[in-house]
Amino acid sequence: MTEPSTAAANAPLLPAYYTDTAVLAAEQRRIFARTWQLAGHETDLPGPGSRIVARAGDQEVVVVRDEEGALHAHRNVCRHRGARLVTGPEQHAAIRCPYHGWTYCLDGRLVGAPEGRRFSAPLHLPSLGLLPARVEVWHGLVFVNLHLQAAPLADQLLGLDALIGRYLGELVPVGAARIHHAADSPGRVVATDANWKVAVDNYLEGYHVPVAHPGLMRLLDYPRYSAEVSPGYAYFEAPLRATRSANRMERLYQRLVSPMPGLLPEDRGVWRYVAVYPNTMIDLSADCVGAWSMIPDGVDRTLLPGAVYRHPDAGWRTRLAQAAGRRVNDLVTHEDDDIVTRVQAGLRTPGFTPGPLSEREAALGWFAGRIRTDLGRT
Ligand code: FES
Ligand SMILES: [Fe+2]
Repeated sequence: MTEPSTAAANAPLLPAYYTDTAVLAAEQRRIFARTWQLAGHETDLPGPGSRIVARAGDQEVVVVRDEEGALHAHRNVCRHRGARLVTGPEQHAAIRCPYHGWTYCLDGRLVGAPEGRRFSAPLHLPSLGLLPARVEVWHGLVFVNLHLQAAPLADQLLGLDALIGRYLGELVPVGAARIHHAADSPGRVVATDANWKVAVDNYLEGYHVPVAHPGLMRLLDYPRYSAEVSPGYAYFEAPLRATRSANRMERLYQRLVSPMPGLLPEDRGVWRYVAVYPNTMIDLSADCVGAWSMIPDGVDRTLLPGAVYRHPDAGWRTRLAQAAGRRVNDLVTHEDDDIVTRVQAGLRTPGFTPGPLSEREAALGWFAGRIRTDLGRT
């Protein structure tokens, strides 16, 4: 792909970034294999021996909780002949391969193989442990990284604690959707027919809200929608209007929403969004939190695994507000799906190059710059 060397650092990405399979292959190596990827929530790993399998781009990682409560991450491959070890949530004292029964401790050490004497040379257990990955927890959200020397996640999220940490206290999932379904049940995961960066771009700007989301426009105080970019994440505030919506479901939400314990009174009147580079999204409203990820499933298809969480003591009023909020959000998701599919189709037009970005799209420029840097195309 050729790009004018004079292109500003924050210029939008050229169409080939969204349509070229060679770019996706480079992204797998240079972005998904080196950045922190959302794997699940601590509630997915309730006790010793519990495990989930998660996606890091096109690779899988097993996250397991040991007897002391610590988490470990391993590549999901047996060191004997390469069988996929874990296919979904389980809880056992060890990790046993379903093919020939090689058995690993929760920390990944190989402890034994059936008929271990019948190998041409004695098995050298210490060199046959599971291939490691990194795992870190940030306020209950579990992230993995295939790059063993990656900088700590906390470094990337510096400053985010003060902005949203109070939302991420004691939380339990609502409904059946789980982040780890991207790996163990991809058929249950919402997907969209667009490149993963088209989906991220769409998340990174509120410029489309007045035209594409009439319902949101009734709820949000659009002129006060704001975006702030840090090296590792983008943070958005969408204050809610004080006036009642004309729509019944939206009015119900406005009337019933109340802040979770630990939130500030002003949190009731604002929705906040965070995009953690490259592909983790966190949606924060007074009554619940959504965490989700955008995972390429081909150059023009994206899996959107995620889950919604609320405080365990939420009463009926809050649950009703959440149900109303979900109805509003479902419509927004549907509208966004329509938009990003249109963009993906349009990007294939020969001769098209993107127009200038509005100030309201500044976070897209930040994202484009990071993508170009990571792909070594600055
Ligand atoms: S492939 Fe796992 S024990 Fe053989
Ligand atoms: Fe949208």
